[in-house]
Formats: sequence, C-alpha cells, structure tokens
Amino acid sequence: MKFETRCIHGKVMADPSFRSLVTPIYQTSTFGFRNLEEGKARFAGTAEGYIYSRLGNPTVCQLEQKLASLDEGEAALAFSSGMAATSSAILALSGPGKNIVTSDTLYGGTHNMFNRTLSHLGIEVRKAHINDYLKYEALIDENTSLIFIETPANPTLGLIDIEKICNIGKKYNIPVICDNTFATSFFQKPLKLGVDIVMHSATKYIGGHGDVIAGALIGSKDLIYTIKKYAQNDFGGVIAPFEAWLLLRGLKTLPVRMERHYSNALTVARWLEKHPKVTKVWYPLLESHPDYELAKRQMSGFSGMLSFEVKGGKEGGEILMNEVKMIMLAVSLGDCDTLIQHPVSMTHAGYSCDDLEKSGITDGLIRLSVGLEHSDDIIADLEQALVKVS
Ligand SMILES: Cc1ncc(COP(=O)(O)O)c(C=O)c1O
Repeated sequence: MKFETRCIHGKVMADPSFRSLVTPIYQTSTFGFRNLEEGKARFAGTAEGYIYSRLGNPTVCQLEQKLASLDEGEAALAFSSGMAATSSAILALSGPGKNIVTSDTLYGGTHNMFNRTLSHLGIEVRKAHINDYLKYEALIDENTSLIFIETPANPTLGLIDIEKICNIGKKYNIPVICDNTFATSFFQKPLKLGVDIVMHSATKYIGGHGDVIAGALIGSKDLIYTIKKYAQNDFGGVIAPFEAWLLLRGLKTLPVRMERHYSNALTVARWLEKHPKVTKVWYPLLESHPDYELAKRQMSGFSGMLSFEVKGGKEGGEILMNEVKMIMLAVSLGDCDTLIQHPVSMTHAGYSCDDLEKSGITDGLIRLSVGLEHSDDIIADLEQALVKVS
C-alpha cells in the first residue's frame, strides 16, 4: 500500500464486537486474566495478551503499528511527549561514563536536557557544528553510545546530510537517532538513509491539530524492544489511550495536510524573500537556502516551518510579532493554525549567548509555523504587521 493509504488503513485492528470503522479507545488501566495460568504466561512472555496499560494497550499498539509502517521500520513505541521519547532512547542506550555526539543546533528542550540534565546521569554530550562532518567523527571515542541529529534543525532550518552521519555511525558501530519532527515521515525517511532510530515529537504534524502532547520512536525490533524494556516500562513515559486515538485520527490526514503546509510555506517564503522589509528567509526548499541541493536529495518536500529576519533586527521582529492579528504568537508548531514565535526568548531561551552564536540563532530570528489557512490570508496578516516595521 502507498503512504496515503497506510495512513488510513495501515494494519487496522479488527473490532470483533461491532466492526467499528474507528479504532476504539481502550480506556482501561488493566486487563483481566481468564485464570492464573494465563496471567503467569503473559508475565513470563510465553503468551500474548495485555496485562496493564503501562506495558501495552490495544489503542496504543494500533498507533505504534501505524507509525512503524509509515516510517518503514520494524517496530515503534509511542510516548507521553517528544521529550519522553528522546530521554527514553538515551536512558536505554547510554549511561554513566558514556558520551553522546550531537549537533550544536537542536530544539531548546533537547538542548536543555543535553546541556544540564544528562551530566547529572554521568553522560557527556559532545557537539559538532551542524554540518562539520569531520568534527562529528573526531568527537567519537570508545565511550560514544549514540549520535543524535535533528534535521532540518529547529529553529534555523539548517540541514544535516543523514547518509554522511550514518556512514560515520556504521564505521564505529554506533547507533544514529534522527529527530524527524520538522519533515515528518511523509517528506523524509531517515531509516532508509541508514538511521537506526527515528524520533518524532508527535505533538506537531502527526497530531496536527494542536490538541495533544506525544512522542514516538521507530526502528528495528531489537532496539525498540530494548528501549521498551529498559526505559519505557521502568520509567513509565507512556502515552494515554485517548492521546493515541487523537494521533490515529491525525495520521489519517497527514499527507493532505503536509502537501498544503508545503505549498503554503513555499508561497509565504517566496513572498517574504521579495519583501523590502525582510532581510533573510530560511526555508530548505528555497533556491537561496545554503543546503537547497541536499534538501532536494534528502526530502521529497518540506513542512510549514520557516524562519526569517526583518529590518531593524530584534526591534523590527518584536514589532512584527506584536502586530500580527490572525497569526498567533505561540510556541509549538505543525498545527492547522499559523503560529509565530521568538526562539531566543522562547523555545531556545535556555541557550547561552555562546551557544546561540555557534548555532546561528540571532536575536532577530523569527520562527513561523505556516498553517493551513489560505496563503493569501497569512500573507495579508504579515503584510499589515510589516507595514509597522520601520
Ligand atoms: C524538533 C523538536 N524535537 C522535539 C521536541 C519536543 O517535543 P515535545 O514538546 O512533544 O516533548 C520539539 C518540541 O517543540 C521539537 O520542536
């Protein structure tokens, strides 16, 4: 089946009672055993069947099968947030005395976990400039437990050549994790390019409607089972059945939403690029993007994420963000609604001045998550706000 069809039909669990079209929400904490033998066998892993919803739930299982099929992985795990997904992968695959190699441009929450929290667990984090491939390799030693990349990166829209990173990972036998939140499995397939685990903040395009916080990991059965056993079951960052159901609903329209996010964002990016009050625009599929060729090779399109700077830098940006009317000043992304935010003071406020400079996140950088409204209306709102920028 093609991607679009799998979004709707992929491994649909039969509802034996009523044949409902939509997956039921199994809103239950526990599952009864017919007798002691059955309970013992399920705990021993010698019989299939649910035990307790932290360890598995039919609605969640349905979501996980669909996520695995869309990223073309063997197995998937759904989590209570994107951060729970990333931290679970790290808890399972790294540990005291180990190090992680990553890039200097990451979502602010991931940056905070890497910069302050992992050191409490005795895990060192080593960073290369986003596309300095020699540096990534130079940072690896016998204690490197994994390589973590985010591409396109939040909020600069910088790109990493996934195949190049995976070749380094393979050379040293180190698993590579790729945060695929910005591109989604519709536009980018990191597992096909050699990545071992794909991570998503499912809060964003997978949910797609701004009403759920969730995360996901997709990879081989072995790796996913290890993460389930040693991190998810024990630390408990599971997704609730209702949240899983919301994601299943969101996934049905993922391809049509992504196509519209892409066309809207490209239209807005091209318009911004020509605007006399706009000094810079970053959108991977604009010819002016420094990694345009890589973007075309690695992705079949892109989402609604773009960033830009206006005349007057920080002050100009502040006027614009205060003056938009339909567009909401809010963090998060990937929703139907267009959202605008200021990374330096919001999502990336945890970065030090030095880290901001290294990753190219300027005071004047504005991040826009282009939604599904008509592009004329998004442009009209930006235009009336830009009029006020001097
Ligand atoms: C690229 C990226 N990765 C991970 C996360 C964390 O996801 P969550 O907020 O669902 O925990 C975010 C959140 O904005 C993100 O933008």
